[in-house]
Amino acid sequence: MAIENACQISVTNRQQVFKVPKGEPLLMAMEKLNQRAIDVGCRGGGCGLCKVKVLQGDYQTKRMSKAHISEEEAALGFALACRLTPLSDLELESDHFPLKK
Ligand code: FES
Repeated sequence: MAIENACQISVTNRQQVFKVPKGEPLLMAMEKLNQRAIDVGCRGGGCGLCKVKVLQGDYQTKRMSKAHISEEEAALGFALACRLTPLSDLELESDHFPLKK
């Protein structure tokens, strides 16, 4: 079934593409679709596990802990997927949790 008013999310490092409803936090919308393109942790901005880098597209974020996303990183497109709401189609990379690198 097609999602009305959807944003297409392309997760380049995991070669996954899916559509989420506009206006929903990305991580939770992804989970509803049973997609696993972004790692899921606390869902509340506390663990940093869902850190992504947006390569293309528009989005907004709720407040994010500077422990996980510094101002410099935010300016470069880094964000926590559980705090990020897509406003357009997005191209992004997941797997930016520091312990995995
Ligand atoms: S899931 Fe923990 S910060 Fe997003």
